[in-house]
Amino acid sequence: MNLKKLDNFKGINLLDIANEYGTPVYVYNLDKVKENYQKLFNSIPYENKKILFAMKSNFNVDILKTLRYLKCGIDAVSTEEIAYALDLGFKSEDILFTGIGISNEDIKYCISRGIVPNVGSIDLLERISKNHPGINISIRINPDFGHGHHDHVITGGPHSKFGIYESYLEEVKRITEKYKANVIGVHFHIGSGILDFEPYIRGIKKALDISRIFKTIEFVDIGGGIGIPYRENDNNFDLEKFGESISKLMDEFSKAEGRNVKLLLEPGRFLVAESGVLLAKVVEIKHTPLYKFAIVNTGFNHLARPVMYGSYHEIINISKIDSKEFEEIVVAGNLCESGDIFTRNEEGIEPRRIQKVEYGDILGIFDAGAYGYSMASHYNLKKFPKEVVVKDGYHRLSEKAYLKYVL
Ligand SMILES: Cc1ncc(COP(=O)(O)O)c(C=O)c1O
Repeated sequence: MNLKKLDNFKGINLLDIANEYGTPVYVYNLDKVKENYQKLFNSIPYENKKILFAMKSNFNVDILKTLRYLKCGIDAVSTEEIAYALDLGFKSEDILFTGIGISNEDIKYCISRGIVPNVGSIDLLERISKNHPGINISIRINPDFGHGHHDHVITGGPHSKFGIYESYLEEVKRITEKYKANVIGVHFHIGSGILDFEPYIRGIKKALDISRIFKTIEFVDIGGGIGIPYRENDNNFDLEKFGESISKLMDEFSKAEGRNVKLLLEPGRFLVAESGVLLAKVVEIKHTPLYKFAIVNTGFNHLARPVMYGSYHEIINISKIDSKEFEEIVVAGNLCESGDIFTRNEEGIEPRRIQKVEYGDILGIFDAGAYGYSMASHYNLKKFPKEVVVKDGYHRLSEKAYLKYVL
């Protein structure tokens, strides 16, 4: 068990929060969001840059306002996300629309709001260019390789539905010339949960090669995907080397080409995963010949990552932080599904050694700030968990401002 995960909530009494607001509850430390944003921003010496937050990872209103205040932009994947971001005061020039399965109506909306579409297929490119001659677009390329913590999140290579394959670049040229569309950006996103920086170097080299062909390119977007160490022995992403290497390539390119191309990044997980913990109460304990199950009042309807990817999330018994009594337990959710287990891997159950558990204890499921609440559902007709935000030591309930965009 890795008690260091508690450091992300230093000075915050999680037990008090669970008692005051009830469980299940997501708690987000906004100071941690700010810290991670600044860490990433400052690790890149290249001046002409912007971070676009991948809203899909967490659309909590207070997290979005925190990032807007820091001058972060938005990577949007739906018209709903665009509308929400604009209403929150993000400027249209700081939003890039990178969806998949994009209709002509989606594009009309995007253009009417002054947002550049990032185009990931020849079909979409042809429709946009034909219907909106002279338009500014970005192209999402598939650089022929992907990377990530799980097959489901690898978005490059021949098995992926994302991006325009490099081999179709001639077609891009033909269509954009025919309809006078301006390619002002080139983008790739190879996957998620990446812990080594080399794949970014490979990708950026390809993107810069394409920028040599399309002289109208104003920005290079290297996507998101920077991982965090969920497990104690996971590597930390080497931000310093990453920042230096990509800056060097961007600098060399700008000098050689005589144009100052902007660098965009679209992290989701890196900015918010560590800032979030899901607090749940143990509501039933049972024994089988193999395991002791601690069943909590939440499930994969609130945090789907373990069941979706076999993902590891550190679990700490917040009610017994100082206890020296440990036991092997299986933490299970309260949904009517056998797979609804938090202590699992891809194959199935993986018991965990944590502080001895009793009925009523509050367990913290850590690193839950990304792809946690944003993937939540009402499965088994359960309510959504509450969300509490903490800033400068003060906590309060967060409004579910996103709801009006989805109902
Ligand atoms: C196009 C694009 N950009 C950015 C991201 C954010 O990825 P991550 O949260 O791993 O940084 C995603 C994730 O799916 C994505 O598809």
